[in-house]
Amino acid sequence: MEKEIEEIKKTALRQLEAAKNPGDLEQIRIKYLGRKGELTQILRNLKNLSIDERRKLGPLAQKLKRELEEKIKQKSQGFSVYNPSFKVSPIDVSKPGRKISIGHLHPLTKIEEEVCQIFLSMNFSVVEGPEIEDEYHHFDALNIPKDHPARDAWNTFRIKNSKILLRAHTSPMQIRYMETHQPPFQIIVPGRVFRYEATDASHETTFTQVEGLMVGENISLANFKFIIEKFLKKLFGEKTEFELRPSYYPFTEPGVDVYMKWRGRWLEVAGSGMVHPKVFEAVGYNPYEWQGFAFGFGLNRLAMIKYNIPDIRLFYSGDLRFIQQF
Ligand code: PHE
Repeated sequence: MEKEIEEIKKTALRQLEAAKNPGDLEQIRIKYLGRKGELTQILRNLKNLSIDERRKLGPLAQKLKRELEEKIKQKSQGFSVYNPSFKVSPIDVSKPGRKISIGHLHPLTKIEEEVCQIFLSMNFSVVEGPEIEDEYHHFDALNIPKDHPARDAWNTFRIKNSKILLRAHTSPMQIRYMETHQPPFQIIVPGRVFRYEATDASHETTFTQVEGLMVGENISLANFKFIIEKFLKKLFGEKTEFELRPSYYPFTEPGVDVYMKWRGRWLEVAGSGMVHPKVFEAVGYNPYEWQGFAFGFGLNRLAMIKYNIPDIRLFYSGDLRFIQQF
């Protein structure tokens, strides 16, 4: 075996001497040091030898291995890309280019854009409002007076001894918009909302809503149904099934929840209803003259349905494996 090692050393060094390009070098490397290389085999077989032989041959084989590795490295540094003796150009022009990553839109951004486009196509305007609200716009003007138990329906983040809070829904923008505009109009308000809640697969402390408000003469629940049907079918396809179920909100009369069929189950996707006369009074509209409907969609819910996202916490997880799918 000692002879074998000697023999390998001789031929390998001779071949290294003769190598003319990186391809030759690689072949030499594979021949002796590759997974099935001649020297590799010897090193692997050492364990079958007696201890004495092993003591003798082990260091010898190891030494040769290091020597060959070193020689290959030195020699490869000597090959310049422009070396005219290359048989094959080292630059493979047929190799596909490296993909440049250009970043991704967040799924919530994508669905928000899509939702806005659909409502814009139905002549709605898109407006936005503050994430920090006051009690008047968030509660009082929406017919949720102080000490009314309905205030507890929104687990609001509050600041001690202060009248400002993080909005728990986008409905305060109904008030802000009506305070500064005269009907008829139709708007949507996308925006983040915040709730003091324990999180699980379908609850987050931060999520996004799209508020809607249409006010005019003789607006009825039938108009609402028409708009919602158009919207859901444009977003999810013509076969989408939905249902309106009676519900309660202090700022609507009647209140309605929108359910949509998804994978054989009915899922709530929006709260809604006809604007309560008290709300019109709060902004100085005559409730006998004007009617309207309002709705609030959970945008995360819509995105989860549209893109098959199983857990609401993924949206703000910051996990690139999630984001890069969109
Ligand atoms: N603001 C309500 C919520 O967040 C939803 C809603 C909006 C209900 C508009 C009725 C009308 O629960």
